[in-house]
Amino acid sequence: MMERTSRPKETQAPLAVVTGAFGFSGRFIARRFLAQGWRVRTLTNAPWKAQGLGDWTRQVEVHPLAFHDLARLEKSLRGARVLVNTYWVRFRHRAFTFEQAVQNSARLFEAARRAGVPRVVHISITNPDERSPLPYFRGKALVERLLQATGLSYAILRPAVLFGPGDILINNIAWALRRFPLFGLFGEGEYPIRPIFVEDLAALAVRFATASENVILDAVGPEHFTYRTLVQTLGAAIGCPRPLVPMPPRVAWLAVALLGKMLGDVLLTWEEVQGLMMGLLGSAAPDAGWTRLSLWAREHAETLGQRYAHELKRRLG
Ligand SMILES: NC(=O)c1ccc[n+]([C@@H]2O[C@H](COP(=O)([O-])OP(=O)(O)OC[C@H]3O[C@@H](n4cnc5c(N)ncnc54)[C@H](OP(=O)(O)O)[C@@H]3O)[C@@H](O)[C@H]2O)c1
Repeated sequence: MMERTSRPKETQAPLAVVTGAFGFSGRFIARRFLAQGWRVRTLTNAPWKAQGLGDWTRQVEVHPLAFHDLARLEKSLRGARVLVNTYWVRFRHRAFTFEQAVQNSARLFEAARRAGVPRVVHISITNPDERSPLPYFRGKALVERLLQATGLSYAILRPAVLFGPGDILINNIAWALRRFPLFGLFGEGEYPIRPIFVEDLAALAVRFATASENVILDAVGPEHFTYRTLVQTLGAAIGCPRPLVPMPPRVAWLAVALLGKMLGDVLLTWEEVQGLMMGLLGSAAPDAGWTRLSLWAREHAETLGQRYAHELKRRLG
């Protein structure tokens, strides 16, 4: 008689560990892995974000993103075929800093190395630079170097800005277009931006999970906008084509910061405005995504920007 044994490991579906699987990009990445027959485990400190996302979240095994406990992190990563890392902080706040985010990322990669995870897909940003005066871009470059130093096989995907259901930046531009009769630009608005659809980024993450070569790729979509043409395109798509008013960048940002204060949020930091105006959200790389924001915005004209997307409420609950 055959002895009953537990299912041997190698016949199980491969395991992807995705940080923040109930966050913005993470949810699309996790769903895509599940749809392709993978098992998904997430590392998150915000499991409550799964509420309202749908039944698929029940298939996701949840572990804490325990940066303070390397052994626990390592245990949570054991058995994974790939780690997909979406972890980062958007701006400095009393509750989180870029320096912490760099250290935390280093611990995550070290845990992956100790756990024997063979592959890391890491989401970065266009134009990271260790010499950048902007801590976001400097920190992202440092984290890329830390990942490369682990010796693990990696794919580094560098998006400029993401759009899709649940995004913050594109939605909030549309929100402002709906609510105000004019739209102030930082200067002339003639700096590049190459958005990518979040589902396209997820497809890239899953595709590169199974490759073995080291890759660094600008994850940018098919449309080349300037900030001005992006706002124009969104205004036209949602039926709110507003006059675009060039303003001294600091003055425009102060208005945005004031609006943020009134909403109890951070709409855009001065450093983000600088990054935008320095052209850091631009890329001359070939298209890596295929979905056009101009079409997507028209298809979602009824919902896009109807409600303000609150960054800090999402983050701090
Ligand atoms: N969204 C964009 O337009 C955009 C553009 C360019 C590059 N990127 C990059 O793409 C990646 C994913 O972006 P996303 O918009 O999908 O991010 P997200 O969902 O807001 O966050 C992704 C992950 O980071 C963690 N996280 C975020 N802010 C945090 C904070 N303040 N303190 C502690 N943990 C924090 C989340 O943890 P929990 O699960 O515990 O909440 C989650 O694991 C990031 O590396 C980002 O830099 C995004």
